[in-house]
Amino acid sequence: MRARITGTGSCLPEKILTNKDLEKIIDTNDEWIVTRTGIRERRIVAEGQFTSDLATTAARNALEMAGVQASEIDLIILGTISADYPWPSTACIVQQNLGAKNATAFDLSAACSGFVYALSMATAQIESGRIKKALVIGAETLSRIIDWEDRNTCVLFGDAAGAVVLEAKPGDQGILSTHTHSDGSYFNLLYQPGFGTRHMPTPEGLQERSYFLKMQGNEVFKVAVRMLTEVALEAVTHNGMTMADVDLFIPHQANIRILEATAKRLSLPDSKVYINVDRFGNTSAATIPVALDEANRAGRIKANDILLFDAFGGGFTWGSALVRW
Ligand code: ACO
Repeated sequence: MRARITGTGSCLPEKILTNKDLEKIIDTNDEWIVTRTGIRERRIVAEGQFTSDLATTAARNALEMAGVQASEIDLIILGTISADYPWPSTACIVQQNLGAKNATAFDLSAACSGFVYALSMATAQIESGRIKKALVIGAETLSRIIDWEDRNTCVLFGDAAGAVVLEAKPGDQGILSTHTHSDGSYFNLLYQPGFGTRHMPTPEGLQERSYFLKMQGNEVFKVAVRMLTEVALEAVTHNGMTMADVDLFIPHQANIRILEATAKRLSLPDSKVYINVDRFGNTSAATIPVALDEANRAGRIKANDILLFDAFGGGFTWGSALVRW
């Protein structure tokens, strides 16, 4: 049995925040943001709209496409770093919203690699025969954990959710392989220092703005390109293929320069690289399933196409998945 993606779904908040809008909030400009990141606009949640809301809508859309009832789902894994609560998991809230009463539900923390990690875990459960149907979700409201006074980071991120239904199916189509890696020696190049149990919400912590995402962009950039390239090659080599066999490369949408540098190292032509970072910014765990859903609904993917997902994020974490559609 293979794990096959039988439905995709996504949810983008309605509110659009353009680079021009950002010029009114911080000392930045459209030209800087576009040149350095390729981002022109991003979506931002409304007041009272949370990660679980985006995740629930994305999951409903994926279930509808798959023709699967929520009660048939055995497992929900939700990749996120902007959960509704520290605990319980946002996946449990989504389970309740969907009425997926037979599912085991939990969150997975692997930052921008969250979706690929979750896909890997759910695929293993299906291949082992322990479960038959899973929902894999990447959902973020990063607008709530970025520092809107820090121009180095706040221009990069957005809010979104994407989801897939995975089902056990015979045949050659489905997830061919997944590869995941971590290196905790880089943990503080990209992280949110507060407020876990190590940095409690003290008045000093609030003053130091330690609740917000911190990043050393230059360092992240260098390692990201290297690891994204390595783990993409690992995926095709493992399957006895080359990059020429890949029909559509769906990388984590961090920023255009990371995407272009990785695609160049992999000798992938522009026509095979899916890009939507210009419209949505970096939505962490949500970027790959949102891009997949867009490509799928736009008819850009045909049966038996080879897709390559490639992710890198805080931890550091990175991973890839090769899929025969
Ligand atoms: N507007 C205008 N100027 C800015 C802005 C801004 N929004 N942000 C920073 N600057 C200024 C800096 O203050 C600096 O000015 P200075 O020289 O006077 O000190 C100047 O621009 C250059 O700053 P750098 O940090 O050197 O700019 P760089 O070319 O490295 O680009 C960027 C920064 C875009 C963050 C880049 O390092 C990058 O893409 N890093 C990857 C990080 C990333 O994508 N992280 C996402 C999470 S990880 C992931 O998803 C893979």
